[in-house]
Amino acid sequence: MTGRVEGRVAFVTGAARGQGRSHALRLAQEGADIIAVDICEDIETNHYPLSTEADLAETARLIEALDRRVVTRKADVREPAQLVAALADGIAELGRVDIVVANAGICPLGADVPAQGFLDAIQVDLIGVINTVSAALPHLSAGASIVCTGSVAGLMAGGTSTPANGPGGAGYSHAKRGVARFVHDLALQLAPHSIRVNAVHPTNVDTDMLQSQPMYNIFRPDLENPTREDAELAFPSMQPMPIGYVEPVDISNAVLFLASDESRYVTGLQLKVDAGALLASTTSGAPA
Ligand SMILES: NC(=O)c1ccc[n+]([C@@H]2O[C@H](COP(=O)([O-])OP(=O)(O)OC[C@H]3O[C@@H](n4cnc5c(N)ncnc54)[C@H](O)[C@@H]3O)[C@@H](O)[C@H]2O)c1
Repeated sequence: MTGRVEGRVAFVTGAARGQGRSHALRLAQEGADIIAVDICEDIETNHYPLSTEADLAETARLIEALDRRVVTRKADVREPAQLVAALADGIAELGRVDIVVANAGICPLGADVPAQGFLDAIQVDLIGVINTVSAALPHLSAGASIVCTGSVAGLMAGGTSTPANGPGGAGYSHAKRGVARFVHDLALQLAPHSIRVNAVHPTNVDTDMLQSQPMYNIFRPDLENPTREDAELAFPSMQPMPIGYVEPVDISNAVLFLASDESRYVTGLQLKVDAGALLASTTSGAPA
């Protein structure tokens, strides 16, 4: 049986773990080869650990177990030259790039985060997306698909911009609103070239970003040092559907649809995978 993205090559950022790994695997299951990049280092203002080189190697192992090819590179989405080099290596080995998944992100929440956290969130979550697309664009041709990861935090009024969330929370919402706007406006520019640009906007997803102490503190402001168990009780408050979070594969299935020809005339879409989270909130004014 032919896969839904058979013979394509996908460039995935933040691919060492979480949603990025899940996107890479889901696309590989459907026949794509993968160029997988991740920072594999921590960022000081982000008070939970990011991925490691071992995580990225594990993503590669899982892709190869599916009989697909993979090129991995340690690259920081804040550094355009690193992305350009990673893509050049990937294309040299895999021949092309057809799908871009700009997924890498941080969420530096906390009132104790310095002002630099505002800028770091924007550098990674917005400029990093723009850098990823910029590196790939010269290699894309008609039929290509770009998928950028936003968040319901960018579409809700206020989002993560509260005093308790600190500068990093404000930067996160700012960046994700920017992603929504960027996708909307870029889609119009690339439509005449038959290159599509869409956003996925997840609600809570069960990854290390959500399962982190800064996030537990935000979800349980009533407790001194909340645990995962304490936070689990509060996670459902985000979604009208009776769940605490979606699974990474729920976002990957949306990414796969947007990457495949099944969505060949879908562009500029802000695809919410949010178990109804935005239905219960006022919106930020970003394209939705
Ligand atoms: N988990 C959630 O609840 C949630 C909700 C909405 C949106 N999102 C978004 O989903 C995306 C994926 O996050 P996740 O949930 O998989 O979290 P995660 O922390 O498990 O994964 C993020 C990955 O991005 C990598 N990364 C971070 N900064 C980078 C940089 N500068 N350059 C390259 N790689 C970098 C990390 O090392 C990590 O592997 C992010 O854009 C995030 O903002 C997450």
